[in-house]
Amino acid sequence: MDSKIQKLDTKIAEAKLGGGEKRIESQHKKGKLTARERIHFLMDEGTFEEIGMLVTHRSTDFGLDKQKILGDGVVTGYGEINGRLTYVFAQDFTVLGGSLAEAHAEKICKIMDLAMKNGAPVLGLNDSGGARIQEGVVSLGGYADIFYRNTLSSGVIPQLSAIMGPCAGGAVYSPALTDFIAMVENTSYMFVTGPNVVKTVTHEEVSSEELGGASAHSTKSGVTHFTFENEIACINGLKQLLSYMPQNCEEDAPSIAYTPGDEKRPLLNDIIPDNPNQPYDIREVIDGTVDENSFLEVHKDFASNIVVGFARLAGKSIGIVANQPAYLAGVLDIDSSTKAARFVRFCDSFNIPLLVFEDVPGFLPGTDQEWNAIITNGAKLLYAFSEATVPRITVITRKAYGGAYDVMNSKHIGADMNYAWPSAEIAVMGAKGAAEIIFKNEIKNADDPAAKLAEKEAEYAHIFANPYRAAARGYVDEVIRPDQTREKLIKAFKMLENKAVTLPKKKHGNIPL
Ligand code: HXC
Repeated sequence: MDSKIQKLDTKIAEAKLGGGEKRIESQHKKGKLTARERIHFLMDEGTFEEIGMLVTHRSTDFGLDKQKILGDGVVTGYGEINGRLTYVFAQDFTVLGGSLAEAHAEKICKIMDLAMKNGAPVLGLNDSGGARIQEGVVSLGGYADIFYRNTLSSGVIPQLSAIMGPCAGGAVYSPALTDFIAMVENTSYMFVTGPNVVKTVTHEEVSSEELGGASAHSTKSGVTHFTFENEIACINGLKQLLSYMPQNCEEDAPSIAYTPGDEKRPLLNDIIPDNPNQPYDIREVIDGTVDENSFLEVHKDFASNIVVGFARLAGKSIGIVANQPAYLAGVLDIDSSTKAARFVRFCDSFNIPLLVFEDVPGFLPGTDQEWNAIITNGAKLLYAFSEATVPRITVITRKAYGGAYDVMNSKHIGADMNYAWPSAEIAVMGAKGAAEIIFKNEIKNADDPAAKLAEKEAEYAHIFANPYRAAARGYVDEVIRPDQTREKLIKAFKMLENKAVTLPKKKHGNIPL
C-alpha cells in the first residue's frame, strides 16, 4: 500500500504543478496568480475539494500525445465561500495556455451539472487562449456544451465570471451568458476578434487593451459589470457580490443580523436642491437610506444616468434602481434602459426585492437614440419591471415625467408601494415645455410672449409640479418626508415579505430584444 500511496502522491504533486515552475513564474511575472492560487484566495480555508485532478485529454494530433498534463488546464471543484456551498472552475494558463478542448470542457460541465442538481452558484475564473487549436472541432463542441448549460442554469443558480487573462473568440460567450462579469485591469481582455483580425478587416489599429480591456468593457460596451485593480481585489469583490444573493431561485438571499435603531435620517431632507433643474447625486439618497456601507454598485462606469446595485435594508438584501440627476439629468436612454432592465431581471430571478428611486425628466431625444432603437430598448425596462413579481417599491424624489413615469416601476405596472417626497413633480412633461405646447397661440399673440410663457409655466407648475394630483388618484400611496424614507421602506418591505404573484401561464415571454 505504501508504494501505491506514494504513486498517488506523486501524481497529485505533478497535477498541482500544472504547466511547471517556468510557466508559473511567467504567470507571476505578468502580475497574475495561478489557477490554484486564485482558488486558495477565493474559498474558505480548507473547504475546497478538487474534482477531476487526474483528467487528461485523449488527443494525439500535432504532438499533443507528448503534452498530456494532469488536469488538462482547468482546476474544478466545490467548496465554501463565507460558509456557503459554491462550485468553481479556474482555467490554468500554464497548461497549453488554458486552452479549452474536450476533456477541459467535460470537467467544467461536470461541476455545472452538480451545481444545478444541488442548487448552488458557479464561479468561473477565465484565463485561456480559447479553443485548443490542435483538438479541432471537439474544442468547439466543448464550448457549446458549456454555453448550453449556462443558458439552462440562467435564473436557476447564480453564475459569476471573472476574466483574469485572455478570453477571446467564441470563448467570450460563456461569461456573456452568466449573470455578472468582473475583469482585472491591465491583465485581462475579452473580444470576439482580436486586433490582428480587426486590422485586416476594418484597417483599424487597436491594442488588445484598447479593444477589449477592463476599461473598454466597463465604460464603452458595458460587457463587464465590475473592474478591479488586481486579482485579489477581484476575488474579494466576487465574494462580496455573492453575499447579496441566494443559493438558487428557490431560496431567499441571506440576511445579516440587524438591530433596529433610530431609523430617522434627517440628512435626507437636505439633498434636493431648491432649483428643480440643479443636479444632485442620487447615491447620497441611496447611502442615506440603506444600512451603513451596504451599497454595492453594479455597472458603475457604464450608463451613469442610472445607478443600479445591491444593498441591505434592515439586514435584508435588496436591489436598487435609481435615476441619477447628476449625469445627463438622469434621463433614460438606450444604455441606461438596458442596464437597468438586466439588473431588474436578475433581482426578480433570485427573489431580491426591488427599490426604485425616481428622478427622471423623460427619455433622451435625438436621431442617435431613435435610430439605435430607444423604442425597443426602453421597452426592455418597461417589460422587466412589469413581469417582476418580487416586492417592488418606488420613491419619487423629484421628477417623474412622461413615459419614464410609467416605466420607472409605477403603480400601473405592478409596483406594490409608491411613495413620493414633497419635492416630487409628476406630469407629462416639465412646466416650460408643457406651457409652450398647450398655450402656444396665447403666448404667440400676447403683448409680452416671455411674460405670458412665464405665467403659463407657473400655472402648469402649480397644478402638476407636486405629488398631490398623483396622490389624490392613489398612484402615489403616501407622500412622505425624506427623513421618514428608511423607516417607511423597512416597514413596507416587511409587509410585502410573503408577496405571492402568479404570472399568466406561458412558455416564456418575448422581451423586446
Ligand atoms: C492551443 C494555445 C492556445 C490555443 C495559447 N496556447 N492559446 N495552445 N490552443 N488556443 C499555448 C501557446 O501555444 C503557448 O504554448 C502557451 O499556450 C502560452 O501561450 P503564449 O502565446 O506563449 O502566451 P501569450 O504570449 O501570453 O499569448 C496569449 C495569447 C496567444 C494571446 C492567448 O497564446 C494566442 O493568441 N493564442 C491563440 C488564441 C486563439 O486564436 N485562440 C482561438 C480563438 S477562437 P507554448 O508551448 O509555446 O508555451 C476560439 C473559438 C471558440 O476560441 C469558439 C467557441 C464557439
